[in-house]
Amino acid sequence: MLRIVVIGSAAGGGFPQWNCSTDACNQARTGDALARTQSSLAVTADDEHWYLFNASPDLRHQINSTPALHPKNGLRHSPISGVIVTNADVDHIAGLLTLRESAPLVLYATERVHGTLRANSVFNVLNSELVARLPMTLGQSFELKTPEGKSGGMIIEPFVVPGKVALYLENPDAGPNFGSQSEDTIGLRIQSMEGGEYFFYIPGCASVPPELAARLQSAPLVLFDGTLWQDDEMQVAGVGIKTGQRMGHISMSGPEGAIAALEGLNVVRKVFVHINNTNPTLLADSPERHKVEALGWEIAFDGMEICL
Ligand code: MLT
Ligand code: MN
Repeated sequence: MLRIVVIGSAAGGGFPQWNCSTDACNQARTGDALARTQSSLAVTADDEHWYLFNASPDLRHQINSTPALHPKNGLRHSPISGVIVTNADVDHIAGLLTLRESAPLVLYATERVHGTLRANSVFNVLNSELVARLPMTLGQSFELKTPEGKSGGMIIEPFVVPGKVALYLENPDAGPNFGSQSEDTIGLRIQSMEGGEYFFYIPGCASVPPELAARLQSAPLVLFDGTLWQDDEMQVAGVGIKTGQRMGHISMSGPEGAIAALEGLNVVRKVFVHINNTNPTLLADSPERHKVEALGWEIAFDGMEICL
């Protein structure tokens, strides 16, 4: 069995975002809307070894609010055996700094993302004698390991998805996609070794080409990039100048959107994650929320638990 907990369901910035005073963010401050922390999952195949999929700046709070991730054995212990990151965005790596304090871990990323972590010496707080940094290669499945070298009970397949390099690595002179390479943003297929149950985790994705659609065909569960409802929503809200496409994110709605792209693929359960604070589907009674649910999608919330 796979046990999946969405420990952070919002996109970078969270909901509310520290400097945002839209009606929606203010509602999240007063409790009139459900607040959300930044993008991360915790997954286990054996109820003992947990793996984080992305490590958000809110990780300390997320661990404290998730009893399964609390220390269990002795004075210094964590059920967290490792971390797998899907890109080098701040919302997906800053939480690695929370995992200092001499805990053994295995850290998986593409070689490109490992290069970014190596180039930022602050990540050396992860003691190299205790934290193994292992590469993920696109298209090559591998078995998750515990820090002791035992099986973590899951097979991971990393694959390329359309996307963009992290904001702080953009090279404005490198053409339309700012020097992005295929290893900069990946999707993951995560499978239990014991029972064979599997799901897809794709928190950042700019479009759904035919090969990605084919991959998702008939999947039991897809957790998918739900950053924006519509491409120009940050401009319309008056809080930013960037479109979703400029940020490397597909929208939920529209003919090119995720809802249309996954329609007809027979995916059993479709859940949006990495939801930006401008996205109206965050509000439980919005017309967009009703529409997305009527079309067979769920909007993730912090603490959402799914068992496969
Ligand atoms: C994104 O998902 O586009 C990034 O997390 C944005 C950011 O780094 O603020
Ligand atoms: Mn992000």
